[in-house]
Amino acid sequence: MLPEQHDILWTFMTIMLTVFTVIAFINVIKHCREQEGINTKLWGSIFGGFVFISFLCTRHMFTLVQGEQLIFIWTQVGVIFLLLLVWGIFFKSAQIEDQSPPLIRAAFFWLVVGLLLAGYTNWLPQQRSDPPPKGGAQISGDITMEDYAEMGRVIVFGAKQVAGQKAIGKGQCPLCHTFDPGDNIGRCPNLFGVEERSHTRVQEERYLNEPIKVGETDPASGIKKYAKTGEDYIRESLECPSCYVVKGYGKAGDTKSPMPVIVKPPISLSPIEVNAVIAWLQSKDTPGDFSKVTVPLPSAEDSAAQAEEAPAEEEGDKPIFVTGTEDIQAMINTLGCPLCHTIPGVEGAVGELGPVLHEKTNAPNRIADPRYEGKATNTKEYVRESILDPGAYVVMNEAEGELFPDGVMPQNFKNMLSVEALDKLVDFISNTEAPPEEG
Ligand code: HEC
Ligand code: HEC
Repeated sequence: MLPEQHDILWTFMTIMLTVFTVIAFINVIKHCREQEGINTKLWGSIFGGFVFISFLCTRHMFTLVQGEQLIFIWTQVGVIFLLLLVWGIFFKSAQIEDQSPPLIRAAFFWLVVGLLLAGYTNWLPQQRSDPPPKGGAQISGDITMEDYAEMGRVIVFGAKQVAGQKAIGKGQCPLCHTFDPGDNIGRCPNLFGVEERSHTRVQEERYLNEPIKVGETDPASGIKKYAKTGEDYIRESLECPSCYVVKGYGKAGDTKSPMPVIVKPPISLSPIEVNAVIAWLQSKDTPGDFSKVTVPLPSAEDSAAQAEEAPAEEEGDKPIFVTGTEDIQAMINTLGCPLCHTIPGVEGAVGELGPVLHEKTNAPNRIADPRYEGKATNTKEYVRESILDPGAYVVMNEAEGELFPDGVMPQNFKNMLSVEALDKLVDFISNTEAPPEEG
């Protein structure tokens, strides 16, 4: 698997900035030694502090992927500007301005050139095309459990990675879920350890009786609640999210799940694909060990039937990008908005994790809200801002009496939309309103 891409230029710049703080430190110490009456300890620790902070910034930079690096670099640039300022004060207080090294001027120069360069390369389209990894989403002939789990992983994360984008495959799971310990984006359970808890969940009193009893039919999916084993539990979570709602993650007092039914549009995974995802979920926490996987491998006939039904669909392999030539319904489905939003005029858009999009009426109210601190002055600007920078204003969930979770709506739609596509989307969303009352 390709890791999400780091931007070499940004990473390089942070290293250079740290080197620069070290040079500044050495320079200051040198001056302190040469001059009488300068407080060496004080200035030494101030500039030592800069070195330390800059080092921490650089270390942090290595853990980030491109989109985040782009935001974080400003922290470090700020540190450097502060350092230059303090450096100036140092020379002034020691009355040795004339000895201030050309390095200060050089630093300013390189900072500006570096940022312009980096800005430019980031502005270029960031698409990569790597050869498809072996054992991709196709199944043919004899496959091993490792191949099958890999197929599941590709359904979840996609086969290809695009710099600056979250890895998302046809299953769309990472839109809501995280998978590594300690990694949490709010409203959806982290799926680390789901294999383990799948076995205990089905024994729980709460599982057996809430929100519906085992054997009763869930109206949203039409499925009779059935899970007895861990495998059943995971499958049921995908086919019938509201059969059981993880405590604290549901709506209406945890009786309704905001998770879409994965076997229905727009995601529509086939039974073979669902099993592949289960195989991956059951084995992902124990890399290389597939002994916990209980789903059967697909038989040759299954594979043939699947190939016939969905001929070599490679949807999940392409980076998500819309150009604006698509019709609006296709565009919105590709972007995944319907998974979280109910959108009038878009078939199948019944998502419940975010607010219902009635922006013709909502947007003016949001802007008028005293809590609003964004820059929009009209509906279109508000919608554009909500798409490009969802954190600019966090909507109140009136039904639950609390704010919608911030950070759940993806922050990187700007990388997935051409200028035309964004205009088209903003036009459409700005005109959404509640359908006229029936009767
Ligand atoms: C629109 C957001 C969303 C998407 C997309 C989504 N889920 Fe979920 N999922 C949730 C929420 C919210 C819950 C918690 C409520 C519940 O139990 O249904 C949940 C619960 C689960 C659970 C039960 C977790 C537990 O701790 O018991 C599993 C398993 C799961 N999801 C798997 C998946 C997989 C696999 C995919 C992709 C094929 C996926 N989900 C896509 C929102 C989402
Ligand atoms: C993973 C779930 C998720 C996805 C996918 C998503 N959103 Fe959101 N969206 C939210 C949440 C949660 C909020 C409310 C919190 C906030 O304001 O940031 C929100 C808020 C909004 C708002 C502000 C609504 C209002 O009434 O003020 C707009 C507009 C919006 N989203 C449009 C979109 C569009 C267009 C897309 C697809 C390109 C999209 N969203 C995809 C979860 C999502």
